[in-house]
Amino acid sequence: MNRNELRTPSYIVQEGALKHNLEILKKVREESGCKILLAQKAFSMYRTYPLIAEYLDGTTASGIFEAKLADEEFKPSCENDNTGKENSGTCEKRENHVFEPAFHVDEMKELCEICSHIYFNSISQLELHRPVWEPYQKAGKVKIALRINPEFSTQEGHEIYDPCSRGSRLGIRKANLPEKLPEGVTGLHFHTMCEQNVQPLIETFRHVEENFPKYLKQISWINMGGGHHITRDDYEVDKLVSFLKDVKERYGFDIYLEPGEAIALNAGTLITIVMDIVDSDDIPTLILDASASCHMPDVIEMPYTPPLEGAIESKLGCEPFEGGDGIWVRLASRTCLAGDIIGIYRVPEMPEVGDVLTFTDMAIYSMVKNNTFNGMPLPDIVLEKDENSEDRYELVKRFGYEDFKERL
Ligand SMILES: Cc1ncc(COP(=O)(O)O)c(C=O)c1O
Repeated sequence: MNRNELRTPSYIVQEGALKHNLEILKKVREESGCKILLAQKAFSMYRTYPLIAEYLDGTTASGIFEAKLADEEFKPSCENDNTGKENSGTCEKRENHVFEPAFHVDEMKELCEICSHIYFNSISQLELHRPVWEPYQKAGKVKIALRINPEFSTQEGHEIYDPCSRGSRLGIRKANLPEKLPEGVTGLHFHTMCEQNVQPLIETFRHVEENFPKYLKQISWINMGGGHHITRDDYEVDKLVSFLKDVKERYGFDIYLEPGEAIALNAGTLITIVMDIVDSDDIPTLILDASASCHMPDVIEMPYTPPLEGAIESKLGCEPFEGGDGIWVRLASRTCLAGDIIGIYRVPEMPEVGDVLTFTDMAIYSMVKNNTFNGMPLPDIVLEKDENSEDRYELVKRFGYEDFKERL
């Protein structure tokens, strides 16, 4: 497709930006010796899995569907070329990790068949499923870990993304761990961060060392979760590499990181058209064919205002705004939800009906959270390839009425 053939709304994922992020992550892997997994909950556009699989060690899943998706699709492209050749080791099968606060009994066998690593959130879950996973573990087909809750918050303001917040159900607290890790458990997992730089990771690990020292001597691998914004411009990549090398040297275990956002950070846009402009007491409200509620729920859940190409500044729908050059407009959706507001933006010129607006950083936690509330159509999914590629815009998926109906 050409650019002018794109429909709105569409998510457009830029392969070049994805590769840029993957190069950084590859460098961290190579220099530190750690392993990096794609947390599929953030980004599951499996059309890009063969590319990502060339750079990363595997995936992590939040349940059986993501685990199956990885099993089917997360293969480096060399595995798809039908030559059957194993070139330079890049075709090795990728790891498939899965964590869920509770697994259904009827899913455990299949998970053991397709996953390389399974993480349990409690001793009771570990023991409930032991009869199923233990034979696989003893045969060396699956590795087992427990998720711990370090009870150490390093973030403020986003309680819903803080697994160490009060009342959290995520991870076993120190007080609830037995003296010795149960038979078969060889790994530990903690995930405590969200969009953070390296210092909070260093502090979290120091806290884990102080509070869980005996367990660190009993394991052969550790997973330090996600929330590492490694591909953000100001991320201290060298400091991360030194930290990981130091931990590896002192403990000798394998280290995993499982970022989601960092893989596709700033690698996608959501284009939308201005359908109408209405007068709403204070400033003009632009009605768009994209919806915060349906196509970018984090805007409401977190909340935040997604960056808009060309805008001078933005505010949450509820924040005061005034002044400055340009014009303030409210960007809202064509759903009937009064609060389906994307944000308030100061733009250089008043947009017109028919203009296409572009929200950036829309690859992550967007299409994975889509819904069809109000019968809203789901955006197209498009892959934007390198500038000189013949088919620059590949339409990966177009949804229609049937997709809406089939879910109901
Ligand atoms: C257990 C676990 N691992 C990894 C991630 C990925 O985090 P992020 O996308 O912030 O890097 C999450 C996010 O919620 C998570 O819960």
